Amino acid sequence: MSTRATKLLAAILALLVLGGLALGARCMSLTAVSCSPATLFGDSPELDVPYAGTRPEVVARMLEMASVGPRDRVVDLGTGDGRILIAAARDRGASGLGVDLDPVLIRQAQANARKAGVADRVEFRVEDLFETPLGDASVLAMFLLPEVNLKLRPRILAQMRPGSRVVSHAFDMGEWVPTQRARVGGSTLYLWIVPAQVQGRWRLEEEGGRSAELIFTQRFDRVDGRISAPTGSALLQDVRLVGLRLTFTLPDGRRWEGEVKGDRIAGRGWQATRLAGVMPVPS
Ligand SMILES: C[S@@+](CC[C@H](N)C(=O)[O-])C[C@H]1O[C@@H](n2cnc3c(N)ncnc32)[C@H](O)[C@@H]1O
Repeated sequence: MSTRATKLLAAILALLVLGGLALGARCMSLTAVSCSPATLFGDSPELDVPYAGTRPEVVARMLEMASVGPRDRVVDLGTGDGRILIAAARDRGASGLGVDLDPVLIRQAQANARKAGVADRVEFRVEDLFETPLGDASVLAMFLLPEVNLKLRPRILAQMRPGSRVVSHAFDMGEWVPTQRARVGGSTLYLWIVPAQVQGRWRLEEEGGRSAELIFTQRFDRVDGRISAPTGSALLQDVRLVGLRLTFTLPDGRRWEGEVKGDRIAGRGWQATRLAGVMPVPS
């Protein structure tokens, strides 16, 4: 081969390599195991998270942590090829919605759902995950990025019903401490239970007619409380809030448990009614 032809071939090869690197860089992830054509060739809107699939054993553990069952509606944000939602429907009888910005992945998810025989229980649509309404989700599944989780946090706390579960592959939600953490292979998984909002003042009535005031301060699901009566005021001990379930120990040692039902907390032998409107809780 002549020197000129060799140089030309080298230039073509260099162009191909550089082009490949430039396209690959669009995936921009050390963890990505694959990259969809839409992501690769740029015919989809800019993604907040590149595509990487969750391994099947991790999917199974996420669904187990969130106790997904037939009564659940799972919303899968950044669904990719739909594997989390499809497994929730196929293996646990749930229904739900998966959203992704990548139309190629959404078509793949729809085909995968048909193959798995769950297309009647799952919907996949092209949508920005920051636009997806979360109010009817009993379970939220995510494999996103820390900053995306943090940006979603106020929406989760404002829109999801208390007691709903949020399960995340790999990334946490900052100050909102998870209820459960698990390791599967090299992955860390997180589960949160959306807490009821109890911050503020409540009128406590005990069976037998005694009444007092309860005052709670709340940061996510961490709650401090105080009981106040004409005879004095004291801290409640060991206050715990898990979803709708609130438990605390009174100054006299009694351990009380109640369920938060909007503006009422119903316990055995006692109830509390919210005195002022719901106080904003930090999100
Ligand atoms: C790490 S992948 C997770 C895929 C799948 N959930 C899984 O665990 O196998 C993140 C997904 O989020 C999607 N995505 C990124 N930004 C998005 C956005 N703003 N709205 C919706 N989907 C988005 C990407 O296309 C990608 O499929």
